[in-house]
Amino acid sequence: MSLRVRLMVLSSVWLVFILVLFNTFLYWFVVNITTKSEKELMLGKARTILENRKVVEPQNWKSPKLLEEYLTSDEMIRIVGMDGKVKLQLLYDGNEVARKPPIVIDRPYFAIKRIDRIRFLYVDVPILTKNGQVGVLEIGRELHRWNDYMDVLTSALVVTSVGAVVLSAIGSFFYSRFMFQPIRQLYTTMQLIQQSGTFRKLDGEFTAKADELGKLGVTFNEMIERLEELAAKQKRFVADASHELRTPLTIIESYASILKRWGLDDSELREEAVESILSETNRLKGLVGSLMQLADSERAESLKPEGIDLVKLIRSAAKHMEVGFHRDVAVESPADSVPMTGDPQKLRQLLLILLDNAIKYSSKPVTIRIKPEPESVRFEVVDRGVGLGENEKRHVFDRFYRVDQARTRQTGGFGLGLSIAKSIVNRHGGTIDIRSRPGVGTIVSVTLPIDELPAPT
Ligand SMILES: Nc1ncnc2c1ncn2[C@@H]1O[C@H](COP(=O)(O)OP(=O)(O)OP(=O)(O)O)[C@@H](O)[C@H]1O
Ligand SMILES: [Mg+2]
Repeated sequence: MSLRVRLMVLSSVWLVFILVLFNTFLYWFVVNITTKSEKELMLGKARTILENRKVVEPQNWKSPKLLEEYLTSDEMIRIVGMDGKVKLQLLYDGNEVARKPPIVIDRPYFAIKRIDRIRFLYVDVPILTKNGQVGVLEIGRELHRWNDYMDVLTSALVVTSVGAVVLSAIGSFFYSRFMFQPIRQLYTTMQLIQQSGTFRKLDGEFTAKADELGKLGVTFNEMIERLEELAAKQKRFVADASHELRTPLTIIESYASILKRWGLDDSELREEAVESILSETNRLKGLVGSLMQLADSERAESLKPEGIDLVKLIRSAAKHMEVGFHRDVAVESPADSVPMTGDPQKLRQLLLILLDNAIKYSSKPVTIRIKPEPESVRFEVVDRGVGLGENEKRHVFDRFYRVDQARTRQTGGFGLGLSIAKSIVNRHGGTIDIRSRPGVGTIVSVTLPIDELPAPT
């Protein structure tokens, strides 16, 4: 069953339920209001009859004359004994009114019975003597005009209810079509995306609506935009990576063919070719290594968090760089140890990337400042080097972004370091940002939560 049909059926069933409830209440209410005066009248009459001493005595019940004077048209008066049997019964005309079975009650009682499509009102009153109850006096009366009114009311209720259900079904057929039109449009767009393999967005008319479907449309378009961005990023990444791989490969290829043609005899050329091939092979190795690091840093499950001391980790990374690059790296920390939860290998990698940049792009001593905070810990890698312009700062975390391609080829970077760093920080649930002034220096600051690591995504 389609959603639209289901909605139609459900709303119709609900309407039928409401109408039945409402009509029953209305009917009951009308019956009570309109028969109230009749009931009071008949009860008064029954009481008047019972004021007659003779009526109260069972030995007089044999004679119909006892009640004759009280009988009016369309009426029945009868006396029912305590055994439930009719002792005396008087009818004006017709005997439908007497078809109601006799009952024994001990307090005044009213009933409306429908016999052969005619409604009768009955009043039963107990006959009481000094020795207790001896029987029941019952008066039954045909409700002539009332009967007709109730027939009209019943037909009116039935006709209007059926009409309401039919009209509601027709209405819901049309409005559900109108309501489900955006869902159909969404479905068609999704199918088109699936079949054509290209991204498509919903039109402005769909997203302009302020209702839930409009919001759904906006979210859908945002999702498509993000997917488009991701696909473009992926494409760019593959293109950049192949470009980066191609340059050293081309150099290796040309030196190899030079070697093959002339180099074997020319020792100087041979030396240069082997040197270049070796250096480009190293560069290739570095690039592949960086690419693998990037892929690894993006895998949530690759993170192996454990309890670590950040100060110790930073001091060890700083020492490693000092020894490797013969440069001064100072560590400033207000505490001797800052315990936290994190992946030691990844955090070390992060530090080496930031220190590598600070050393590569400056010639003065580098400083790492540790600033513990209540729930997190911040550290800053500070250098007084070339710095970055506003525009460059915005892109430094993009993959393969290098401020100066020529300069970086000399210094050997691929523009992947900060992308890997950002990815590691993200995986730890932290933030990284860069402040820099050209010619003054750069501060890369990283904030990491001390305890909690985000759930893997
Ligand atoms: N401390 C810094 N001072 C000045 N410029 C920087 C600094 N850190 C990064 N940059 C600039 O940002 C660019 C991107 O840095 P990133 O670390 O991602 O790449 P890379 O250092 O060029 O290469 P890789 O780190 O992959 O070897 C660098 O090319 C450099 O121009
Ligand atoms: Mg770098």
